[in-house]
Amino acid sequence: MLGKKLVTAQKRGETRALFLGLGMVACSVIMYFFIGITIVPAYKRSVWTNESVCTLMKASIKDPVHCMYNEGSGDENIFRYPCLEVEVNLTRLGQVVKLYHTEDTVDRNPQCSYVPPNVENYGEVQKEVEEITDNFRKHQTFSCFYDPSRKEESVILKRLYPPEDLFFAFIWPSLMLLGGVLIIVMVKISQYFSVLSASQYRTGT
Ligand SMILES: *[C@@H]1O[C@H](CO)[C@@H](O)[C@H](O)[C@H]1NC(C)=O
Repeated sequence: MLGKKLVTAQKRGETRALFLGLGMVACSVIMYFFIGITIVPAYKRSVWTNESVCTLMKASIKDPVHCMYNEGSGDENIFRYPCLEVEVNLTRLGQVVKLYHTEDTVDRNPQCSYVPPNVENYGEVQKEVEEITDNFRKHQTFSCFYDPSRKEESVILKRLYPPEDLFFAFIWPSLMLLGGVLIIVMVKISQYFSVLSASQYRTGT
């Protein structure tokens, strides 16, 4: 009687562990999927892979431009920002090219080297852009990233999507997958041994 109860309890525990393991495997697959459709394309698009030294050629502020996101939204004064234009000498190749802040800057507004993250207060934005311009004039030489294939001529100052970071994005789902598989394997091993000992019991050894 007691033996039978124990066996049922053990079975129930095994089933739960098995579901936990399978759930973890399913979760990690979903996480891989989302990383695959959201983060990986951004890293693939980032062609500015090689580092070089850039020297400043020109840093000037053009007329305020419309923030592209809000084009045609009506209120013109709120969504304008000064357009900073920076040109540098990519010293490794001796080319004078346009510098952008990050990969995203190119997407958001290819006319300007810097797109302020927050464009609501024009006074503040203007101060910010002027400070950045001064900073460039003070530090004339700095490191930058370029596309070695030269399909993309511009250079960027900071990489948002260095490939090393992709590794960290994959750590959590990989650990979860490993944990899930380990649980499933352990349940299977324990099932195997209980079947083995039961058959030994029956043959009366
Ligand atoms: C760019 O830098 C290289 C290497 O320092 C130099 O030889 C070249 O003359 C520079 N080009 C311009 C336009 O200043």
